[in-house]
Amino acid sequence: MIKHLRSAADLDAETATLILDTAAEMAALSGREVKKLPALRGRTVVNLFYEDSTRTRISFEAAAKRLSADVINFSAKGSSVSKGESLKDTALTLQAMGADAVVIRHSASGAPHRLANWVDGSVVNAGDGTHEHPTQALLDAYTMRSRLGRLDGLKVAIVGDVLHSRVARSNVLLLTTLGAQVTVVGPPTLIPLDVAAALSEKTQVSFDLDAVLPDSDVVMMLRVQTERMQDSYFPSAREYSRRYGLDVPRLHKMPEHAIVMHPGPMNRGMEIAPEVADSPRSTIVEQVANGVSVRMAVLYLLLGGK
Ligand code: CP
Repeated sequence: MIKHLRSAADLDAETATLILDTAAEMAALSGREVKKLPALRGRTVVNLFYEDSTRTRISFEAAAKRLSADVINFSAKGSSVSKGESLKDTALTLQAMGADAVVIRHSASGAPHRLANWVDGSVVNAGDGTHEHPTQALLDAYTMRSRLGRLDGLKVAIVGDVLHSRVARSNVLLLTTLGAQVTVVGPPTLIPLDVAAALSEKTQVSFDLDAVLPDSDVVMMLRVQTERMQDSYFPSAREYSRRYGLDVPRLHKMPEHAIVMHPGPMNRGMEIAPEVADSPRSTIVEQVANGVSVRMAVLYLLLGGK
């Protein structure tokens, strides 16, 4: 088993499938009367969050607690980071407290890779800058497999602000490893060809959402990350929504079996209409629930739980 999960590229098909299968076992066990498993009793998981998060932070905490680990939650806000303490010194402080795993979210791409040089325990990337978010990709793959029964040959459209999306990068890497056919869709300013080419040779690129929808099993909508872009990238929210927003008429262009996904947080009315987000075709809430089982599997396997 791998020691760290810094990138979806750390996962070959066998390891990724083991994580998804273990997540299914975790979901089955957690669904029964026994809510808490003793697998990581006596182990310490540190959640080290330098960027805001709702879903990822809560679900890593829930996952570690359901495995009986001790959990330390560290938020950069209100810490000695505001006094200029470096990531390395913060990491060494956590190391001194005996962290068996450090789950890190950071605005700097590559921060988990650097952290892995400074701590003895496992490092799990919970989102680094615009680079990667591998556990989001795992929970997305888990959701696709549980809803549609397979990943091999599945046609997945990832739509929107690909340029700034760590979710898109990790999903392209993981889904193509597992045999899915991925098309990234968005305006040319948010999906430059060099970015698309760098993602994977197997990835298709389209600037025309309406052309892609009828041939998609999965449509994954991305939030437009205005906080990471300059104004020149994004001329008008109304124009973006008109061309790339998933509304009810576009939902009807998708095959009847096709599902709608979104990693959250979403901007209702921009990239996704409220009626679509709340429709039975949407797996958005299911993705959040699956995130706990998937993160239980990741922590359990990385830490060699019993
Ligand atoms: N999907 C995701 O990473 O959400 P949060 O930013 O709320 O953790």
